[in-house]
Amino acid sequence: MPTKRVACLPGDCIGPEIMAVAQRVLAELVPDVELEDHVFGAAAIRSTGDSLPAETLEACRASDAVLKAPIGDPEFDAAEVRPEQGMLRLRAELDVYANLRPASAGPIDLLIVRELVGGLYFGARGVRADGTVFDTCEYHPSQVERIARRAFELARTRRGKLTSVDKANVLDTSRMWRRVVREVAADYPDIELDDMLVDNAAMQLASNPEQFDVIVTENMFGDILSDLAAAMTGGLGLAPSASLGDAGPGIFEPVHGSAPDIAGRGIANPAGMLRSTALMLEHGLGLPEKAATLERAVESALQSTRTPDLGGRATTSEVSDAVVAALV
Ligand code: NAD
Ligand code: IPM
Ligand code: MN
Repeated sequence: MPTKRVACLPGDCIGPEIMAVAQRVLAELVPDVELEDHVFGAAAIRSTGDSLPAETLEACRASDAVLKAPIGDPEFDAAEVRPEQGMLRLRAELDVYANLRPASAGPIDLLIVRELVGGLYFGARGVRADGTVFDTCEYHPSQVERIARRAFELARTRRGKLTSVDKANVLDTSRMWRRVVREVAADYPDIELDDMLVDNAAMQLASNPEQFDVIVTENMFGDILSDLAAAMTGGLGLAPSASLGDAGPGIFEPVHGSAPDIAGRGIANPAGMLRSTALMLEHGLGLPEKAATLERAVESALQSTRTPDLGGRATTSEVSDAVVAALV
């Protein structure tokens, strides 16, 4: 079998701290997999002027999977060139339209399928002559069809229930979204489909999250609801994600951001990063047993070793040690 190659993007603030943990674990678990670091985000703006340098994009395209730590730095919040722009561009270039954000704890076991390369993040934007600034939500029906199909397929591998979340009482894009999801549903008579308005969905997630199996939704709605789902299932520091297209490498990254408020203190929780690494082993490298081993090791380490965001006193490196010890 040819050597598998992972393009690693260590990112900003706590990014390199948690990427180091993921790389240590991968070296233990899959020593044959090649790990290559590439500059991205604020670090790349500083060294090249571009948050997604051409060399990094090419390396990502040529890889079997992209493992990404969070990017973002307050230094660039108001700048013309910002780290987040490179991240949206990387998602669009790799056409990873399906962002899987699982959240489970106790009786809660749900999967948010967030559309990742369209909607409010990618519509027309600009400034009018009078100074009005606008961002718009745009979808082509084919973009809705492919994410809906992916969500129905995923529901089939789970409890067979799909909730499509939109704002069809206000937005034309949402009315089209609902129509297309209903059309695709004809091919999945075994799946129970519901529509839900996004404001109600937020309330239902906070008060009765057990009702959900798979949720499929627009880019921005999915961004917001996935932080909420993370908070309902133990915290943002635990939440992983996988961004997949139809072909080519996926991007595997935690749901949380670069946490500038705790950067450099050695207390970042590496669990979301490690769970994203497990998703990469499964979906990106085709190594489901290794993924299961890592998931179990993270779960077991968290029993006794918890960083401050989880109410504990452990450091990042103590969690790292506990996970590595639990791998065997
Ligand atoms: P954030 O997710 O970075 O932090 C929110 C809160 O959660 C903070 O208090 C932080 O300390 C805590 N937190 C997050 N991850 C943690 C971890 N692993 N361990 C312990 N505590 C953790 O959100 P924010 O502060 O709104 O954004 C900060 C920066 O991150 C911004 O520049 C934003 O654009 C960027 N961001 C990047 C990504 C990404 O690269 N995928 C995702 C979200 C936000
Ligand atoms: C996420 C992040 C990103 C998003 C930002 C940093 C562009 O919040 O991955 O959830 O909104 O998609
Ligand atoms: Mn987010």
